[in-house]
Amino acid sequence: MANVAVVGSQWGDEGKGKVVDWLSQRADVVVRFQGGHNAGHTLVIDGEIYTLSLLPSGVVRRNKLSIIGNGVVVDPWALLDEINALQKRGVKLSPDNLKLAENAVLILPFHGYIDRAREEASGEAKIGTTGRGIGPAYEDKVARRAIRVCDLADSVCLVERVEQLLFHHNAVLRGLKAEEIDGKALMASLEELAPKILPYADRVWERLDAARRNGKHILFEGAQGAMLDVDHGTYPFVTSSNTVAGQASIGAGMASDCVDYVLGITKAYTTRVGSGPFPTELDNEISQGLGERGREFGTVTGRPRRCGWFDAVMVRQAVKVCGIHGIALTKLDVLDGMENLKICTGYHLNGKNMNYLPSAISAQAGVEPVYKTLEGWTDSTRGARSWADLPATAVKYVRHIEKLIEAPVALLSTSPEREDMILERDPFSD
Ligand code: GDP
Ligand code: IMO
Ligand code: MG
Repeated sequence: MANVAVVGSQWGDEGKGKVVDWLSQRADVVVRFQGGHNAGHTLVIDGEIYTLSLLPSGVVRRNKLSIIGNGVVVDPWALLDEINALQKRGVKLSPDNLKLAENAVLILPFHGYIDRAREEASGEAKIGTTGRGIGPAYEDKVARRAIRVCDLADSVCLVERVEQLLFHHNAVLRGLKAEEIDGKALMASLEELAPKILPYADRVWERLDAARRNGKHILFEGAQGAMLDVDHGTYPFVTSSNTVAGQASIGAGMASDCVDYVLGITKAYTTRVGSGPFPTELDNEISQGLGERGREFGTVTGRPRRCGWFDAVMVRQAVKVCGIHGIALTKLDVLDGMENLKICTGYHLNGKNMNYLPSAISAQAGVEPVYKTLEGWTDSTRGARSWADLPATAVKYVRHIEKLIEAPVALLSTSPEREDMILERDPFSD
């Protein structure tokens, strides 16, 4: 297998960062293909914690090429801060090993203000976004008025682009009797930014094509998760990009057959941060225990994540829409010491059984989970690196999940540390 795509199969924070870092030892190139700095991907290497938002999770390893693809919305100031912070920690990062798609869309400061102001004004109906301007930036992209990385290289064009962009936004702001955006100040900050960002700008589609032709291994790193996908997720409580595996080719600029193996990252229970339906959510000492042992606090916003039982219906749906070949099951250790474990095997809605998550908002909010109860385990699985180190009931729990979601476990993660992983099948090998 030359190329592997890693995608979240739930509502994000499944442990993609750890798995991508682990897999990147086998890859030559790691490329992000959607999302932006709403992502928070955590790597723990010998106790040292790295939290990445825009940079691909292969950056910490030497001799890997890191690429931010055209499908990503890039806050250039946040990117520079992330690069600087990593450089200070001794990570080698320069335009030689980090490439930014020249056709990627920029997140500008007012995108964040709009995002946060809308959320504040939405009261109960708020989405619970990360407030990073992701939605407003993608809106400008599809409305064909966004500023892209390449625009920074042409100041005449940049003036026109900023005028067009603000023609729209200032009209809206005037209507709302809100303060308008100062075009001159925005131009000045973009001109100051340009020489710092442009050295990273690149035709990444060409570079990726060359890597593919030369038999290099490419690792595509997804952000968020299938249930946050703007088409396939719990709309409207989703992010503003396609998070499913099909986006890997579009968001990197490669052919649709560029991915040979799709690895779905799957937490051994379920979490969600932000608003929206969550059929297996708990609000009791069990969810509190999962939150504490799993340290379930948002990497980006610090918000506590909502916790609940494993939802096999939802993950099976993600397996299908993403074409997941195998999963990396993470955070099994968080379930240590629980007497019983429940897995959602179906839903009930208005007296009917369902084996899928319906699309309608009211149906998503109304489905009742049907559970199967399994025996838990008392021994610790934390740090286990072989199947033989796992209690029999833990193996049974994993096998049950595989059957229900119709996909095998390729990797099993048993702690935040890089090397605490059980390898069942190497996604990069044939
Ligand atoms: P991502 O957004 O999918 O990359 O996930 P996050 O980094 O936001 O959240 C996952 C959290 O779980 C991080 O704090 C990881 O260090 C941690 N983590 C990853 N794998 C494991 C695991 O197998 N066990 C435990 N206990 N923690 C893990
Ligand atoms: P990683 O890559 C978990 C959620 C937000 C909110 C919704 C929309 O770390 O798994 P946005 O700011 O994208 O407009 O917010 O999506 N969200 C995430 N939840 N993990 C993430 O990324 C997320 N990125 C966005 O909480 O509910
Ligand atoms: Mg995260």
